[in-house]
Amino acid sequence: MTVLVGSALRAADIEVVRRVLRKHAGIALADGKEFLVAARLRPVVEAAGLDGLDALLARLRAGPSAALVALVVDALTINETSFFRDVHPFVGLKDHVLPDLIERRRHERTLTIWCAAASSGQEPYTIAMILLDQFPELARWDVHLLATDVSPSMVERGRHGIFSEVEVERGLPSVLRERHFVPTGDGWQASSRLRSLVRFERHNLVGSWDVVPRCDLVFLRNVLIYFDPDITRRVLLGVRERLSDDGYLALGGSETTVGTDSPFRRVTLGRSVWYRPS
Ligand SMILES: C[S@@+](CC[C@H](N)C(=O)[O-])C[C@H]1O[C@@H](n2cnc3c(N)ncnc32)[C@H](O)[C@@H]1O
Repeated sequence: MTVLVGSALRAADIEVVRRVLRKHAGIALADGKEFLVAARLRPVVEAAGLDGLDALLARLRAGPSAALVALVVDALTINETSFFRDVHPFVGLKDHVLPDLIERRRHERTLTIWCAAASSGQEPYTIAMILLDQFPELARWDVHLLATDVSPSMVERGRHGIFSEVEVERGLPSVLRERHFVPTGDGWQASSRLRSLVRFERHNLVGSWDVVPRCDLVFLRNVLIYFDPDITRRVLLGVRERLSDDGYLALGGSETTVGTDSPFRRVTLGRSVWYRPS
């Protein structure tokens, strides 16, 4: 059987991939991705030591191993991100959210932040730079900043904290690059101080939530857009369970809890939008 039409997958084959992605990562694969999926699965064929796309699809049909599923999910996630992405959430974080949380937690002196679906780490490192530069008093606090993603290769990248020149140029002011990054052969690496603030772990938003602590602040940006409404609701209910009653949730610019039947209210702080337990 030939599964390729030109270099795209056939409808029946894309359906197999769609089922795997939805079941194991909650991701609803959009229509019209036949060429992209075929191109992205080719390295998986090689990494899994299979004979070709036919063999990979046969494995996916028959019930793939966890390792093969991880490779497929890793290959098909969209990891687009940048430092200070969309700017306003980080201005709101600095001017409103962190001052409020610091005031509320001034007796316990602990702060727990979870950056879910953190991709290669630009988002949690952006938060870490704000913590270090704008709130020096937190040096005497117990601050936990957890960054997670379903993609093992993104978690690995985040841990190393190495970014290419192009990635650094997307949103990282040169003054912060000089302060918090050191040049490496192939780009810039987050300083050991910055890296020590962020703990990277693999976590699947549609799997077990054991690694997720009770949080004061959750960043869950630009991932709900890939989920169906029922999965979006499940994930938001999970976030609500982990978020303290006076905590804050940040979503991506095109995402909202409105209409998801989840217990959050929308608040605007300056030019930034946040969701708080209702
Ligand atoms: C577009 S990136 C967003 C990165 C960052 N939050 C931002 O806004 O710049 C989406 C990320 O969600 C991750 N992702 C997709 N499905 C996931 C799931 N089920 N659990 C955890 N992360 C997931 C992808 O691996 C990808 O890195």
